[in-house]
Amino acid sequence: MSFFDVVSREAADYTLVTDGLEEVCELYSVYYSSSSQGRLKRVDQTLSEIEVEIQGGQREVTLTIMQNPNINGELGQTGAVLWNSSVVLSEYFARRSLSGWDLTRFNVLELGAGCGLVGMVLHRLGARRVVLTDQQRVMKLLLKNIERCQNVVKGKQRSKGSETTVFGTEYVWGRMPEDQRVLAEPVDVLVVSDCVYHEDVVPLLVKTMADVCSSREDGVPVVAVVGQELRSDLVHQAFVDALLDRFQVHRIPVDAAVDSYYALYALWLKQP
Ligand SMILES: C[S@@+](CC[C@H](N)C(=O)[O-])C[C@H]1O[C@@H](n2cnc3c(N)ncnc32)[C@H](O)[C@@H]1O
Repeated sequence: MSFFDVVSREAADYTLVTDGLEEVCELYSVYYSSSSQGRLKRVDQTLSEIEVEIQGGQREVTLTIMQNPNINGELGQTGAVLWNSSVVLSEYFARRSLSGWDLTRFNVLELGAGCGLVGMVLHRLGARRVVLTDQQRVMKLLLKNIERCQNVVKGKQRSKGSETTVFGTEYVWGRMPEDQRVLAEPVDVLVVSDCVYHEDVVPLLVKTMADVCSSREDGVPVVAVVGQELRSDLVHQAFVDALLDRFQVHRIPVDAAVDSYYALYALWLKQP
């Protein structure tokens, strides 16, 4: 069974998104009526080291992530700290994994991974291969975090037969990845956490998502799972409209009482 089979079975519980403006009106009506609770969590971006607990019942994952708060204010350095959306998305995967998703056969590619939380959680949840990508300028921190995560996994002595691969490498949106390993194996899951913080990044990001999702030659749809903090209605609408040009977009339900400041989507390319 492909990851697409797994997710599309659940799509009946998702909301099919057909229009950016409608989507933003719906999301923001909940956003404005909710308490501030969703904003208060979950990461402290001022710390150089942060312990994150991802709740997923027995699948609880704890990771210590290094951040570089000092350079976050500089242009293009948003990946030097963790963003709340990565916690929300990681919790989603942990919950689904607890309720039966078996990730062990799947190959995950993350775009704009930053400090790498989501990809590393997927590694800890057993994904067979996880490739975390970002720009060169945040790669040093990402690689350090991956190395630490691998050491923890080794320390826990994974059982024989459950060997997995995780690595980080550069992938700049809009270009083909220079590292041939990025697309060397068919991608099952494309992960994108909080990569839209300005309208200008939308075209290249969506193009890159479409490039990855059309990279499989066997016809199996690649599922992109996107987590996005709601910062600006106009920017979010631009993102959704750009996605709708190429993708069938489904909003994953979140607990509105806690996560009303975030939108999660599962999407795959529209049939030509
Ligand atoms: C707000 S951060 C999110 C980081 C991480 N996904 C998270 O949720 O914590 C946005 C990420 O997108 C990356 N990014 C921005 N423009 C990019 C580009 N043109 N190519 C590759 N990555 C890019 C940044 O380096 C940064 O890591």
